[in-house]
Amino acid sequence: MTSFWHPFANMAQVALEAVSIERGEGVYVYDTGGKRYLDGTASLWYMNVGYGRTEIGAAMAAQSAQLAAYHTFGDFTNPVAEELCSRLAATAPIPGSSVFLASGGSDAVDTAAKLSRRYFAQIGQPERTVFIMREWAYHGMHAYGTSLAGLSPNLEGHGPMVTDVVKVPHDDVDALADTIDRVGAERVAAFWCEPVVGAGGVRPVEEAMLKQSRSLVADAGALFVADEVITGFGRCGDWFASTRFSLEPDLVTFAKGVTSGYAPLGGVIASPRVAEPFWSGEGAVWRHGYTYSGHPVCCAAALANLDILEAEGLLARALELEAEVMESLAALTDHPMVDHIRGGVGVMAAVQLNSTVLASDPYANVAAATAARQAGVITRAIAGGGLQVSPPLTITRDQLDELTAGLRAGLDAI
Ligand SMILES: Cc1ncc(COP(=O)(O)O)c(C=O)c1O
Repeated sequence: MTSFWHPFANMAQVALEAVSIERGEGVYVYDTGGKRYLDGTASLWYMNVGYGRTEIGAAMAAQSAQLAAYHTFGDFTNPVAEELCSRLAATAPIPGSSVFLASGGSDAVDTAAKLSRRYFAQIGQPERTVFIMREWAYHGMHAYGTSLAGLSPNLEGHGPMVTDVVKVPHDDVDALADTIDRVGAERVAAFWCEPVVGAGGVRPVEEAMLKQSRSLVADAGALFVADEVITGFGRCGDWFASTRFSLEPDLVTFAKGVTSGYAPLGGVIASPRVAEPFWSGEGAVWRHGYTYSGHPVCCAAALANLDILEAEGLLARALELEAEVMESLAALTDHPMVDHIRGGVGVMAAVQLNSTVLASDPYANVAAATAARQAGVITRAIAGGGLQVSPPLTITRDQLDELTAGLRAGLDAI
């Protein structure tokens, strides 16, 4: 019997049967029984450079031997955190940005949420506390992120959470404009936007819609927060979806692909607008931070990962894969259970089951994902009845077709 309480799991079932992954190589992972799976999800959207990159481990080991850890509160820093932040600032959507480091995406979201309100308090507009977020959104599981839930089951049952949160449809600029008017522009702190909704079902919107939302938020004087925990570091064919679509967000949250998961790390890129009241003149202490902000071993993993992304041209490769993923998955459109394929922005897609199938079994995508796994391909059931496709950026065209064949086998099996 296990003692491990899994995230997002019904332990009454999972305690009886779990899949134990013990090894990875390229786009494949292997379980303890030796069975090989093509990882069609890059674990939880993060294994951008693929498994088995010993150079990342070597960089972490070298850093650990030199200095495993030292905190960065107050005036302490370390050379690797400095190097990582300047490298991230160089990729940032807005020149001159600064970087706040944390341990993962939920940390990043809570950091950006608190910073939005703290920023307005600092510049004398403390009444700006309202967050506007989108349906289908997933912003992590800390208290702010849970409160910004576009997927209501993630919020329910936890009692009162963060207040002053308003939800809008993910694809309706007019609704955003109306909401800003209704709330009062002077009360809005931030609009939260995954440039491509990820966990909520892979829901890209038109680039023009993102840009219109961005300018509405600017007109309201509020902050535009791009949650790029999934979409960053090549996943959308650029350093960030925000750089690709010139969104110029005030804050960018990142995690996952920054280390390709080789170490837990996340953070927030703050534009000069947001940083300025804290960094110039007399400045101000922002009483926020984490024990592992700027953790040297995690920063070393990130630097080695960024080296690989650059050296192997994986951002450009992801742009090529954008079309290849859709071409390969198009083979599933004739399947009687499939309604359509969503995606077309970077290496993120969803195979949407049709309403007839979902009406007879709302969890048909869960069953299909389990059956695909038996056929040797890992996918995940995502919100709204889809199957997640987000493989490592190193996947080849042949491996994509292997992925598609595994999905078909899963669908056929149920
Ligand atoms: C858009 C987005 N934000 C935040 C998070 C939370 O990240 P983490 O699970 O690293 O805390 C996730 C995780 O999937 C995410 O997709």
